[in-house]
Amino acid sequence: MILPVVAYGHPVLKHVAEEIDQDYPGLQQLIADMFETMYHSEGVGLAAPQINKSIRLFVIDADPFHETYPEAKGFKKVFINPEIVEVSEETWTFREGCLSLPDMNEEVVRPSKIVVNYLDENFVEHEEEFDGIKARVIQHEYDHLEGKVYVDRVAP
Ligand code: NI
Repeated sequence: MILPVVAYGHPVLKHVAEEIDQDYPGLQQLIADMFETMYHSEGVGLAAPQINKSIRLFVIDADPFHETYPEAKGFKKVFINPEIVEVSEETWTFREGCLSLPDMNEEVVRPSKIVVNYLDENFVEHEEEFDGIKARVIQHEYDHLEGKVYVDRVAP
């Protein structure tokens, strides 16, 4: 089912989202619906606050970037209760867009490498290092769980 995506200005996008556990009702269906919604909108990531659920969950499929960034090939993942535990000093500037701010994109500076602790869709814990476009998409979606959108990071 395609879910409505909330636009910038909606208060849910300013909330710090809550952790969930395995008993969260309808979780697998929600994840499937989030992927469907993301593909329908031609996005590469979607965070639960964007569909008006203030929970720490986002989905990513960065494959559309693979011609420019080969590491994006098949990079499809679910992140539950993620925590960015390390960030590199080195940064990388990339032009970002967001499904909650249609027809806009801006250059955003972010750490180029991160280590993330997270649960996958089966609640198996992982701690992994990501760089390049993977680190970029993860950080963008992670911001949504912290009540931030990328324009908050852009110089006025
Ligand atoms: Ni976004």
